[in-house]
Amino acid sequence: MIIAIDGPAASGKGTLARRLAESLNLAYLDTGSLYRATGVATIRAGGDPALEADAVKAAKALDLAKFTPADLRSEEAGIAASKVAFIPAVRAALLDFQRNFARSKASGKAGAVLDGRDIGTVVCPDADFKIFIEADLETRVRRRVKELRETGENIIEARVRADMQARDARDQDRTVAPLKLADDAFRLDTSALTADEAFAQARAYIDSKVPKAKR
Ligand code: DC
Repeated sequence: MIIAIDGPAASGKGTLARRLAESLNLAYLDTGSLYRATGVATIRAGGDPALEADAVKAAKALDLAKFTPADLRSEEAGIAASKVAFIPAVRAALLDFQRNFARSKASGKAGAVLDGRDIGTVVCPDADFKIFIEADLETRVRRRVKELRETGENIIEARVRADMQARDARDQDRTVAPLKLADDAFRLDTSALTADEAFAQARAYIDSKVPKAKR
């Protein structure tokens, strides 16, 4: 079973994906972490995340063991990620890893959940389930500010809003694999939902498509 979850920054993808993975015994890949790691690796090497040669070199040599979760969750890593993600050759370099993860049967798991921007459209167009998760800008800014303050990052809300708008524009307007709704995706707006409610709605969609006996 493959579940594809796509949506903009801070829409609640990660929380939902983790909970679905746990409840359905699936492996989980946060594909944004690959782009974040590529962005951070480019900066560490003294390169520019917006320059194709620098970013592709980092993507091809990517070793996730070199990054802690804190390295990848910072606002700086998110901005660098959206710049490297804009470059088609970087996306191509990261594609096989994502497809292999989706296909490989992790030991004892019944399949995989992947979340990102282009999972249902490009990485796993044949996924059994596709969820397109949304939330309005102010809700996402509020969530991201809370998340960053919890990690101790000293941030200014107006700056987070401006960065998020710039990232939304880069993610949606790029020519290769932009964030967009797959025709067969279930649309879930989490603006007015708690994490529990979003999870319940996603489970209801999945359960309505697959008889429990088959899982
Ligand atoms: O979901 P996130 O905020 O961790 O993603 C970081 C950036 O990576 C985001 O701005 C867009 C990019 N990304 C992408 O282009 N495709 C994906 N499948 C996942 C993330």
